[in-house]
Amino acid sequence: GDCFTSAIALTESGVPHVPTRYILPPSQRPMLGPSIGTDTITLPVVDLSLLHDPLLRPRVVHEIEIACKEFGFFQIINHGISSSVVKDALDAATRFFDLPVEEKMLLVSDNVHKPVRYGTSLNHSTDKVHYWRDFIKHYSHPLSKWINLWPSNPPCYKEKVGKYAEETHVLHKQLIEAISDSLGLEKSYLQEEIEESSQVMAVNCYPACPEPEIALGMPPHSDFSSLTILLQSSQGLQIMDSNNKWVCVPYIEGALIVQLGDQVEVMSNGIYKSVIHRVTLNKDFKRFSFASLHSLPMHKKISPAPQLVNENKPAAYGEFSFSDFLDYISRNDITQQRFIDTLK
Ligand code: SIN
Ligand code: FE2
Repeated sequence: GDCFTSAIALTESGVPHVPTRYILPPSQRPMLGPSIGTDTITLPVVDLSLLHDPLLRPRVVHEIEIACKEFGFFQIINHGISSSVVKDALDAATRFFDLPVEEKMLLVSDNVHKPVRYGTSLNHSTDKVHYWRDFIKHYSHPLSKWINLWPSNPPCYKEKVGKYAEETHVLHKQLIEAISDSLGLEKSYLQEEIEESSQVMAVNCYPACPEPEIALGMPPHSDFSSLTILLQSSQGLQIMDSNNKWVCVPYIEGALIVQLGDQVEVMSNGIYKSVIHRVTLNKDFKRFSFASLHSLPMHKKISPAPQLVNENKPAAYGEFSFSDFLDYISRNDITQQRFIDTLK
């Protein structure tokens, strides 16, 4: 494989062009060719505080149902995570990525089974084209089991990012319940699994890029999670809409983005879809994001909910677990396909 080169270090060295290995084939470039994506999509914005009001809950669950059916993506406001918790987490991430590259190198690994690892691109040893991103990924639930392995620099990292991770975990339980509800599954469906669910937090830094027209921060992919809760510091995320056109997800101050992952697509027997998305770059400033990927327990097999399978709608997917997914991605390039399409 290729040796490790941090995208942050490259930007800081002031390269005027992206090195060749970052240049996408013309058809995959974000601002040329048929896949031009500069239109912004208006996604549903759901006020989550209304979920707690028994009279209003059905209306909010219905809004979530529409959002999941039409987009597979929505934004949430009044989600219960305070702006200071969000700001502190972003601040800790900024300081972490500002550390000297030698210090971050100590955490570098391309082993996807490692509970804490620093990386660049998607996987620097297997990617054919590289992506302009550095990241740290860490297992985050149960927090006490993993937090000691997290970076100890900056000194506030464990506390600040830990707080955000815990609050995100609580939020994800409320969302999964509402989504189960919206599918007509009882609230307790998956209850046990949710308690034991895994949470992987990917903290991303996309440095300013000298040629954002020909490179990407992350290639098109869907998330293997049941759902992903995304915090972004500025715009950059694009999703593929129902006409196979790339559209930008707007930045809304204080909002979080909810993305349905492959596990919800399978569980819903395809009523809801996990959506293909990618990350574009800009010339002027870094963008940060926290993608909190919530999944059913590592070895739990996921299959369509029996209540959603019948003669007219047979099970559309074979079963799989999170660990099957990890095994698969350590052997295959998944940048041009969705993992769950291999289960059909
Ligand atoms: C992701 O797909 O997990 C990253 C999204 C982002 O950085 O906006
Ligand atoms: Fe993603």
